[in-house]
Amino acid sequence: MSTSHQKTSAAVAALKYVQDGMVLGLGSGSTAEIFVRKLGERVAQGLSVKGVPTSERTAEVAREAGIPLIPVDQADCLHVTVDGADEVDGKFQLIKGGGGCLLREKIIAHASDLMVVIIDETKLVGALGEFPLPVEVDPFAFTITAKKVFDALRSAGIERPDVQLRRKGDGLEPFITDGGNYILDCACGMIPDAPSADRALKAIPGVMEHGLFLGLARVVIVGEDSGARVME
Ligand code: 5RP
Repeated sequence: MSTSHQKTSAAVAALKYVQDGMVLGLGSGSTAEIFVRKLGERVAQGLSVKGVPTSERTAEVAREAGIPLIPVDQADCLHVTVDGADEVDGKFQLIKGGGGCLLREKIIAHASDLMVVIIDETKLVGALGEFPLPVEVDPFAFTITAKKVFDALRSAGIERPDVQLRRKGDGLEPFITDGGNYILDCACGMIPDAPSADRALKAIPGVMEHGLFLGLARVVIVGEDSGARVME
Protein backbone atom coordinates (compact mmCIF):
# COMPACT_ATOMS: atom_id res chain seq x y z
CA MET A 1 0.00 0.00 0.00
CA SER A 2 1.08 3.62 -0.46
CA THR A 3 2.81 5.85 2.07
CA SER A 4 -0.09 8.26 1.57
CA HIS A 5 -2.49 5.62 2.93
CA GLN A 6 -0.12 5.10 5.89
CA LYS A 7 0.10 8.85 6.57
CA THR A 8 -3.70 9.08 6.55
CA SER A 9 -4.05 6.22 8.97
CA ALA A 10 -1.53 7.82 11.40
CA ALA A 11 -3.26 11.22 11.06
CA VAL A 12 -6.69 9.77 11.81
CA ALA A 13 -5.34 7.87 14.85
CA ALA A 14 -3.94 11.15 16.25
CA LEU A 15 -7.47 12.56 16.51
CA LYS A 16 -8.00 10.49 19.64
CA TYR A 17 -5.63 12.85 21.49
CA VAL A 18 -7.84 15.84 20.66
CA GLN A 19 -10.59 16.97 23.02
CA ASP A 20 -13.17 19.70 22.92
CA GLY A 21 -11.83 23.07 24.04
CA MET A 22 -8.17 22.30 23.32
CA VAL A 23 -5.59 24.63 21.82
CA LEU A 24 -3.62 22.60 19.29
CA GLY A 25 -0.22 23.10 17.70
CA LEU A 26 -0.57 22.26 14.02
CA GLY A 27 2.58 20.82 12.49
CA SER A 28 3.85 21.17 8.94
CA GLY A 29 4.45 18.83 6.02
CA SER A 30 2.24 16.45 4.08
CA THR A 31 1.33 14.17 7.02
CA ALA A 32 0.50 17.10 9.30
CA GLU A 33 -1.62 18.57 6.51
CA ILE A 34 -3.67 15.38 6.34
CA PHE A 35 -4.20 15.68 10.10
CA VAL A 36 -5.30 19.30 9.72
CA ARG A 37 -7.84 18.38 7.04
CA LYS A 38 -9.21 15.49 9.14
CA LEU A 39 -9.40 17.82 12.14
CA GLY A 40 -11.34 20.28 9.97
CA GLU A 41 -13.93 17.55 9.31
CA ARG A 42 -14.39 17.15 13.09
CA VAL A 43 -14.69 20.91 13.52
CA ALA A 44 -17.43 20.93 10.84
CA GLN A 45 -19.23 18.31 12.97
CA GLY A 46 -19.11 20.56 16.06
CA LEU A 47 -15.72 20.00 17.72
CA SER A 48 -14.47 23.25 19.26
CA VAL A 49 -10.69 23.72 19.12
CA LYS A 50 -8.27 26.49 18.31
CA GLY A 51 -5.14 25.96 16.21
CA VAL A 52 -1.69 27.49 16.32
CA PRO A 53 0.01 26.79 12.97
CA THR A 54 3.74 26.13 12.68
CA SER A 55 4.02 27.52 9.15
CA GLU A 56 2.33 29.86 6.70
CA ARG A 57 1.44 26.84 4.57
CA THR A 58 -0.26 25.07 7.50
CA ALA A 59 -2.12 28.28 8.36
CA GLU A 60 -3.46 28.33 4.79
CA VAL A 61 -4.56 24.66 4.94
CA ALA A 62 -6.16 25.16 8.38
CA ARG A 63 -8.14 28.17 7.15
CA GLU A 64 -9.35 26.15 4.14
CA ALA A 65 -10.34 23.35 6.54
CA GLY A 66 -12.34 25.76 8.71
CA ILE A 67 -10.18 25.51 11.85
CA PRO A 68 -10.19 28.69 13.95
CA LEU A 69 -6.61 29.94 14.40
CA ILE A 70 -5.13 32.11 17.11
CA PRO A 71 -1.76 33.88 17.11
CA VAL A 72 0.74 31.97 19.21
CA ASP A 73 1.15 34.89 21.59
CA GLN A 74 -2.56 34.72 22.43
CA ALA A 75 -2.41 31.03 23.38
CA ASP A 76 -2.36 30.74 27.18
CA CYS A 77 -1.33 27.13 26.77
CA LEU A 78 -0.89 24.54 24.06
CA HIS A 79 -2.48 21.25 24.98
CA VAL A 80 -1.31 19.00 22.15
CA THR A 81 0.86 19.44 19.06
CA VAL A 82 0.52 16.98 16.21
CA ASP A 83 3.37 17.02 13.71
CA GLY A 84 5.19 14.83 11.21
CA ALA A 85 8.89 13.93 11.12
CA ASP A 86 11.58 12.94 8.65
CA GLU A 87 13.11 10.28 10.89
CA VAL A 88 12.20 8.76 14.27
CA ASP A 89 14.42 6.38 16.20
CA GLY A 90 13.62 3.93 18.99
CA LYS A 91 14.23 6.59 21.69
CA PHE A 92 11.65 8.92 20.05
CA GLN A 93 14.48 11.17 18.88
CA LEU A 94 13.49 12.94 15.67
CA ILE A 95 14.93 14.64 12.64
CA LYS A 96 12.56 17.33 11.41
CA GLY A 97 12.77 20.26 9.03
CA GLY A 98 12.52 18.60 5.64
CA GLY A 99 9.87 21.22 4.87
CA GLY A 100 11.98 24.00 6.36
CA CYS A 101 9.68 24.81 9.31
CA LEU A 102 11.80 23.43 12.12
CA LEU A 103 12.29 26.60 14.18
CA ARG A 104 8.57 27.31 14.59
CA GLU A 105 7.84 23.59 14.92
CA LYS A 106 10.32 23.28 17.76
CA ILE A 107 9.07 26.39 19.59
CA ILE A 108 5.49 25.08 19.44
CA ALA A 109 6.40 21.48 20.34
CA HIS A 110 8.49 22.68 23.29
CA ALA A 111 5.62 24.85 24.55
CA SER A 112 3.06 22.02 24.31
CA ASP A 113 1.91 19.71 27.06
CA LEU A 114 2.09 16.79 24.61
CA MET A 115 3.75 16.25 21.23
CA VAL A 116 2.23 13.53 19.06
CA VAL A 117 4.29 12.56 16.02
CA ILE A 118 2.59 11.01 13.00
CA ILE A 119 4.63 9.19 10.38
CA ASP A 120 4.47 6.53 7.71
CA GLU A 121 6.59 3.48 8.44
CA THR A 122 9.47 4.57 6.16
CA LYS A 123 10.35 7.24 8.74
CA LEU A 124 11.09 4.76 11.51
CA VAL A 125 14.86 4.17 11.65
CA GLY A 126 17.39 2.23 13.71
CA ALA A 127 19.77 5.21 13.84
CA LEU A 128 19.22 8.85 12.91
CA GLY A 129 21.15 10.50 10.11
CA GLU A 130 20.36 9.04 6.75
CA PHE A 131 18.05 12.02 6.20
CA PRO A 132 20.21 15.17 5.95
CA LEU A 133 19.91 17.17 9.17
CA PRO A 134 18.40 20.62 8.52
CA VAL A 135 19.97 23.51 10.43
CA GLU A 136 18.25 26.91 10.30
CA VAL A 137 20.74 29.78 10.26
CA ASP A 138 20.75 33.56 10.13
CA PRO A 139 21.59 34.64 6.54
CA PHE A 140 24.18 37.04 7.99
CA ALA A 141 27.62 35.42 7.64
CA PHE A 142 26.07 32.08 6.81
CA THR A 143 29.28 30.83 5.18
CA ILE A 144 31.09 31.31 8.50
CA THR A 145 28.20 29.59 10.30
CA ALA A 146 28.34 26.71 7.77
CA LYS A 147 32.02 26.10 8.62
CA LYS A 148 31.18 26.15 12.34
CA VAL A 149 28.34 23.68 11.71
CA PHE A 150 30.76 21.37 9.88
CA ASP A 151 33.20 21.53 12.83
CA ALA A 152 30.39 20.98 15.36
CA LEU A 153 29.17 17.87 13.57
CA ARG A 154 32.72 16.53 13.37
CA SER A 155 33.13 17.12 17.10
CA ALA A 156 29.94 15.09 17.63
CA GLY A 157 31.52 12.07 15.95
CA ILE A 158 30.31 12.52 12.37
CA GLU A 159 33.33 11.82 10.21
CA ARG A 160 32.51 13.56 6.95
CA PRO A 161 29.48 15.84 7.19
CA ASP A 162 28.43 17.46 3.92
CA VAL A 163 26.90 20.88 4.65
CA GLN A 164 24.91 22.41 1.80
CA LEU A 165 22.83 25.56 1.56
CA ARG A 166 19.24 24.62 0.69
CA ARG A 167 18.06 26.27 -2.50
CA LYS A 168 14.64 26.92 -4.00
CA GLY A 169 13.31 24.70 -6.78
CA ASP A 170 15.13 26.76 -9.45
CA GLY A 171 18.42 25.75 -7.82
CA LEU A 172 19.67 29.34 -7.82
CA GLU A 173 18.09 31.30 -4.99
CA PRO A 174 18.49 30.23 -1.36
CA PHE A 175 15.40 28.71 0.23
CA ILE A 176 14.02 31.17 2.80
CA THR A 177 12.10 29.99 5.88
CA ASP A 178 8.92 31.65 7.15
CA GLY A 179 11.13 33.45 9.67
CA GLY A 180 13.46 34.79 6.94
CA ASN A 181 16.37 32.42 7.61
CA TYR A 182 18.43 30.02 5.50
CA ILE A 183 18.61 26.24 5.89
CA LEU A 184 21.83 24.23 5.80
CA ASP A 185 21.15 20.58 4.95
CA CYS A 186 23.82 18.46 6.61
CA ALA A 187 24.29 14.96 5.21
CA CYS A 188 25.72 12.98 8.12
CA GLY A 189 25.28 9.35 7.07
CA MET A 190 24.69 8.46 10.70
CA ILE A 191 24.44 10.57 13.86
CA PRO A 192 26.05 8.42 16.57
CA ASP A 193 25.32 10.76 19.50
CA ALA A 194 22.35 13.08 18.91
CA PRO A 195 22.59 14.89 22.30
CA SER A 196 26.22 15.74 21.59
CA ALA A 197 25.32 17.08 18.10
CA ASP A 198 22.48 19.06 19.72
CA ARG A 199 24.82 20.72 22.21
CA ALA A 200 27.52 21.47 19.65
CA LEU A 201 25.10 23.04 17.16
CA LYS A 202 23.34 25.13 19.81
CA ALA A 203 26.67 26.68 20.80
CA ILE A 204 27.06 28.38 17.38
CA PRO A 205 25.81 32.01 17.38
CA GLY A 206 24.43 31.98 13.79
CA VAL A 207 22.38 28.81 14.33
CA MET A 208 18.76 29.70 15.02
CA GLU A 209 17.73 26.06 15.56
CA HIS A 210 18.42 22.59 14.23
CA GLY A 211 16.22 19.67 13.25
CA LEU A 212 17.13 17.27 16.07
CA PHE A 213 14.07 17.07 18.34
CA LEU A 214 15.20 15.32 21.50
CA GLY A 215 13.00 14.58 24.49
CA LEU A 216 9.98 16.25 22.92
CA ALA A 217 7.87 13.48 21.36
CA ARG A 218 5.92 11.42 23.87
CA VAL A 219 3.65 9.60 21.41
CA VAL A 220 4.64 8.30 17.97
CA ILE A 221 1.94 6.97 15.67
CA VAL A 222 3.22 4.89 12.78
CA GLY A 223 0.91 4.35 9.83
CA GLU A 224 1.28 0.81 8.51
CA ASP A 225 -0.57 -1.07 5.80
CA SER A 226 -2.62 -2.85 8.45
CA GLY A 227 -3.51 0.35 10.35
CA ALA A 228 -1.93 2.70 12.87
CA ARG A 229 0.51 1.55 15.54
CA VAL A 230 0.58 3.84 18.58
CA MET A 231 3.80 3.91 20.58
CA GLU A 232 3.78 5.73 23.93
C1 5RP B 1 8.64 20.15 8.11
C2 5RP B 1 8.75 18.86 8.82
C3 5RP B 1 7.86 17.76 8.41
O1 5RP B 1 7.07 17.36 9.50
C4 5RP B 1 8.68 16.62 7.92
O2 5RP B 1 9.49 17.08 6.86
C5 5RP B 1 7.82 15.45 7.43
O3 5RP B 1 7.09 15.84 6.32
P1 5RP B 1 6.14 14.83 5.54
O4 5RP B 1 5.01 14.52 6.46
O5 5RP B 1 5.70 15.61 4.32
O6 5RP B 1 6.95 13.62 5.18
O7 5RP B 1 9.54 18.68 9.72
O8 5RP B 1 9.61 21.07 8.55
